[in-house]
Amino acid sequence: MTKEPSLQRVTVPEIFKRKGHPSKITALTAYDYTVARIVDAAGVDVVLVGDSLGTVVQGLETTLPVTLEEMIYHARCVARGLKRALLVSDLPFLSYQPSSERAIEAAGRMLKEGGAAAVKLEGGLAVGGIIAAITSFDIPVMGHVGLTPQSFHRMGGHKIQGRQSAGNGKCLPGSRERVIEDALAVEEAGAFAVVIEGVPHDLAAEITEKLSIPTIGIGAGPHCDGQILVTHDLLGLSAKVPGFVKRRADLGVLAEEALRSYVEEVRGGV
Ligand code: KIV
Repeated sequence: MTKEPSLQRVTVPEIFKRKGHPSKITALTAYDYTVARIVDAAGVDVVLVGDSLGTVVQGLETTLPVTLEEMIYHARCVARGLKRALLVSDLPFLSYQPSSERAIEAAGRMLKEGGAAAVKLEGGLAVGGIIAAITSFDIPVMGHVGLTPQSFHRMGGHKIQGRQSAGNGKCLPGSRERVIEDALAVEEAGAFAVVIEGVPHDLAAEITEKLSIPTIGIGAGPHCDGQILVTHDLLGLSAKVPGFVKRRADLGVLAEEALRSYVEEVRGGV
């Protein structure tokens, strides 16, 4: 029989302590109250209001246009649906990169207005100072390295990162060495956990081994300290689903069938 998770709130220190723990960290996205309630009831540890909201909810090609106001609004909706899970919210593109001041303000608003307990932001070496500035004000930060969707144009699409070795000592973005350097920089700056997205399994395993903070993988193999997925992908609700996702339900098809039967009955006067 599986043990029911307790209803006590999951905290940032608890997630931090799960480094290397046999029971891995479970994380999923939510963008609204209804899905937040379901994900929370399923016993997930971390609920992320991802800026994947841009592609999943808003139908955009990339996450770049998502605004801080939109993220705060969705975080607030999700917060109302959670009883147990830790709420982490993404900081969208250009809300934290320009300066530490802008980043502290954006992160602070996410806690104050969005109800999040922590923020997530993308990047490594380039954002070390920003992460340090935010965490110095006791705002917990989750890092995000490897395939960082806000770097869509630099990567030339949502492409696997860290496949090639720099080989020239230059540690260029996208190289294996650079992904490792980025992860180390995130840890050094004070993040309590880091998402590793879209890298070869052995690279995620190497980073997980090197870091003392938990790693949460997505499309990065089974060796991280936890896993995160976009809920709509795993429930069969997304238009496009990455190849690594194991679809666990076909809710899109079920919903369409249910709605068709409604349309037919109403048309037929039933
Ligand atoms: O925006 C997002 O949803 C994410 C992940 C799924 C890691 O960053």
